[in-house]
Amino acid sequence: MRIDVFSTKPYDREFLTRAAEGAEPPLELVFHDARLGPSTAMLANGATAVCAFVNDDLSAPVLDLLADMGIGLVAMRSAGVNNVDLPRARELGLKVARVPAYSPHAVAEHAVALILALNRKIHRAYNRVREGNFALDGLMGFDLHGKTAGVVGTGVIGQVLARILLGFGCKVVASDPYPNEALQAAGVTYLPFEALLGQCDVITLQCPLTPETRHLIDARAVAAMKPGAMLINTSRGAVVDTDAVIAGLKSGQIGALGLDVYEEESDLFFEDLSNRIIPDDHFARLQTFPNVLITGHQGFFTREALTAIARTTVENITSFAGDGTPANRVE
Ligand code: NAI
Repeated sequence: MRIDVFSTKPYDREFLTRAAEGAEPPLELVFHDARLGPSTAMLANGATAVCAFVNDDLSAPVLDLLADMGIGLVAMRSAGVNNVDLPRARELGLKVARVPAYSPHAVAEHAVALILALNRKIHRAYNRVREGNFALDGLMGFDLHGKTAGVVGTGVIGQVLARILLGFGCKVVASDPYPNEALQAAGVTYLPFEALLGQCDVITLQCPLTPETRHLIDARAVAAMKPGAMLINTSRGAVVDTDAVIAGLKSGQIGALGLDVYEEESDLFFEDLSNRIIPDDHFARLQTFPNVLITGHQGFFTREALTAIARTTVENITSFAGDGTPANRVE
């Protein structure tokens, strides 16, 4: 059974090849560097399934091309499926699978890494010490202990993050249309989103990108935040309106910003662009703030997560080969 795997890097090839060893039916993995999109979909001609990642284009025209070639499965190597036109996939009878919970610890711990690095100015301290500058001015942080942290979205990742923050001695509040009872029992208080914004010293976004959460952090939300609050986004870039946070950073309303995802990241992330000019002025502006720390969508990037992503992806493909339904089907 042939599967064309798009947007692959050496680490994807390594982990997927290992996970596919001994698979039944045997899998022929055809790896492409290229991103899946209208001009590359034809590469998958002859395949039974395609395997794609967060910045691949699975809009209706691309799904149409895949269905025309007889492809029956889109196996996402991600938890989020916001880049797949699910209604169109349903119409075409194309099955979509995802990796629901490969390692919530990977992403939650990365969110904590951003919080701690921004708070204690590790990104600046690292450079100073390397230059023999041991002055502390400008590096003052705050104790996380006793501060109020807000987790927006307490799914698999948000729950892990909430518990880590409880461990730091934070007061943890959360917003989610479906409050989690175990978290409430552990001491997390659910609040309406607006109320959460006004109370938190640190706000972290762990919700999926949906039509409802697109630009959840807009100018109104920024204005509703506690002045000087830290905002962390490891969910999807478009949950945050970049213009609104730039304005919030300029006015000081946002005290620090940590991003692992960015609205226009598909033009930038996962590639080495260090010899090129970055044409994105918003991204360039964000980089000028000393209190902004950006990583290039690496929250998922741990050994454990890559192992689990590869294993579940292979399981989704082999179960689809078996009875036509992938194990982790997205309805
Ligand atoms: P999940 O599906 O387990 O949890 C999402 C939670 O968000 C659910 O409890 C849902 O009820 C809640 N939610 C939905 N709309 C909301 C709203 N308007 N306000 C507050 N909460 C809302 O998803 P999981 O596994 O926890 O992942 C969350 C997101 O993190 C993914 O959708 C993905 O976009 C992102 N992600 C980022 C990664 C990275 O490398 N930076 C890696 C993996 C996931």
